[in-house]
Amino acid sequence: FHGAVINPMSLKTYSVSPHSALGIDAAGHICWFEEDVERHALHAIMAQKGCPNATVVHLKDGQFIIPGFIDTHIHAPQVPDMGTGGQYVLLDWLKKIVFPSESKYEDTDFAKKTYNSVIRRTIDCGTTTACYFGSLHFEATKILAKVVHDHGQRAFVGKCNMDRKDDPEQTYFEDSTEDSLNETKELISYIRGLSKHSHDKHNGLVQPILTPRFALSCTKKMLRALGDIAEKDEDLRIQTHLAENTGEVDKVAEVYPERDSYTDVYDHFGLLTKKTILAHAVHLKKDEIDLIKKRDAGISHCPSSNFNLNSGIAPVGVYLDKGIKVGLGTDVSGGYHLSMLGVIQNANIGAKVYAMQAPTYDRYSLKAAHNPENSFSNQPLSIATLLYLATMGGAEVCDLAHQIGSFAVRKSFDALVVDVRDEAGNIGIWARVEDYSSHHSHHDLKKKKEMLEVWLEKFFLCGDDRNISRVYVQGQFVGGREFHHHHRSVQ
Ligand code: GUN
Ligand code: FE
Repeated sequence: FHGAVINPMSLKTYSVSPHSALGIDAAGHICWFEEDVERHALHAIMAQKGCPNATVVHLKDGQFIIPGFIDTHIHAPQVPDMGTGGQYVLLDWLKKIVFPSESKYEDTDFAKKTYNSVIRRTIDCGTTTACYFGSLHFEATKILAKVVHDHGQRAFVGKCNMDRKDDPEQTYFEDSTEDSLNETKELISYIRGLSKHSHDKHNGLVQPILTPRFALSCTKKMLRALGDIAEKDEDLRIQTHLAENTGEVDKVAEVYPERDSYTDVYDHFGLLTKKTILAHAVHLKKDEIDLIKKRDAGISHCPSSNFNLNSGIAPVGVYLDKGIKVGLGTDVSGGYHLSMLGVIQNANIGAKVYAMQAPTYDRYSLKAAHNPENSFSNQPLSIATLLYLATMGGAEVCDLAHQIGSFAVRKSFDALVVDVRDEAGNIGIWARVEDYSSHHSHHDLKKKKEMLEVWLEKFFLCGDDRNISRVYVQGQFVGGREFHHHHRSVQ
């Protein structure tokens, strides 16, 4: 690849290089990455790297590459309900909308059809890695894993464990703890088996994940058994929900009176580890934050869902100041869009609202720092931070920071080609007058970098999937607008 590359470096910084060259090997790994390679120097560099005849993707004016988005929390079966339910709060919403809808995945034909369009859409929206909750159904969740595998997305896929009948009218639950556990184990083998074919170009991208839905949907026996499985199997990640809504937090305290806190419930059963992804974390007490840090568990921040379901605003800045791993999640259908761009926008607004309301929202009595460069608490999130959370932060939360989340030698090439041009190929509405003129009149590197920074900001705040031309996972071209043009013309 040759052209403009934007790469997250830390929570506060990213690099912008208008003339980068990236070498990708046949297995989809980045084997070299050079910044500042002018077009005329490209072939000399390629020869030096030992790949003089490699196929080159030349990015056009108006295109740049960023790492793919990592959606650290999404419910695949809930996509058909997206955009409804915002009148409820969590527990009523689960009962009235979610549980009746998820029951439909008993029907495997329905599952196949729905999951095919869900995965097609998440990839085209730029999600190169996703942490999927399935329904409680074994067969439907096998289908989900197979569909993700066949589309070539990187993902964790888990079947919900929910053997606790929380309400006498509830019909969507599992009446046997043993069956649920056996199916969980069988699903783990099935998903690992998907990757056994060495000729498969999408090898090893889908991994199993333990998915106790949340403390209120599991018996203590279930939580204990899952904690035991996690302890014996080092590769297994764990995903669940934590402190999303105050009604839920109160109920957890009622059901688990012997535990110090909601977070302590998971910790007690061995489910709070460095492989754990905790969705929401809106209403935590101070000692719960300390415990999450101590165990090095990660938080999936889902602001779109937290607004839509009237849950609250998570104090992300506090978590970042504490050094806790944080990623972003759509939490469809608590959240109402599949695109991580929508989550970035809501994370941006959420942090601004939190900062503006600091006197009432600041539950941890943290004053805004004199120098915002030193602190995240009670501050808006910068574009650099939003980029980091949507990519590297997600990778850390998934315990895949060594493999994805940014561009570096030996990492996998999971990337988006972002395109700011309109259908006619013009930069059009994305060009501010000064950017446009400088862009076309001379080749000032500093000006080009500034323009790319503006394009990243505009992509985040007013872009959508029309601006995602190509999506790559492990070096494979798997989605985006051009993918569909390409396939239409081949057919
Ligand atoms: N808590 C338990 N189940 C769910 C779910 O499906 N969505 C959300 N947002 N929270 C939950
Ligand atoms: Fe959720």
